[in-house]
Amino acid sequence: MKRTAIYPGTFDPITLGHMDVIHRGLKVFDRIVIGVAENPKKCPMFDLDTRLAMVHESVADNPAVEAVAFTGLLVDLAHEHHAAALLRGLRAASDFEYEFQMATMNRHLDERIESVFVMAREDYTFVSSRFIREISEMGGDVSALVPKPVLKHL
Ligand code: PNS
Repeated sequence: MKRTAIYPGTFDPITLGHMDVIHRGLKVFDRIVIGVAENPKKCPMFDLDTRLAMVHESVADNPAVEAVAFTGLLVDLAHEHHAAALLRGLRAASDFEYEFQMATMNRHLDERIESVFVMAREDYTFVSSRFIREISEMGGDVSALVPKPVLKHL
């Protein structure tokens, strides 16, 4: 039986920080299903199809990683894919409060699914999708911070 984790997020767009979390997650899990959330409340810059396409293109060379779009509850997605865990990355202490609340809420919704956190590599602690969007909108160079397939979408 393969151990599966769901790696959820908005991925607006996917960054090298996210890719680092995926690679670290694969040290612990056999299979990672990336759940790209619709998240209309966040008013993403890229529509759901484009965000999913960017993730697909970025993980295409790894058969242990899949990507799906989802609109409902994360715990339902985890069930659907027989996942034992939810995977998230932590960059700094400031991430902790939000992640703690979300993990506790997900545990309230489904006791069986564990939240597992990995620490981002130091080089990526300053990388966020929000900064990537902002810098690229202003004509700055983000080529060292996102997977290659993302560049053509920015
Ligand atoms: O990368 P993000 O934007 O921080 O990811 C947020 C995400 C997608 C993990 C969160 O919005 C989410 O889990 N959405 C699904 C809805 C849900 O299950 N909500 C209850 C859990 S708190």
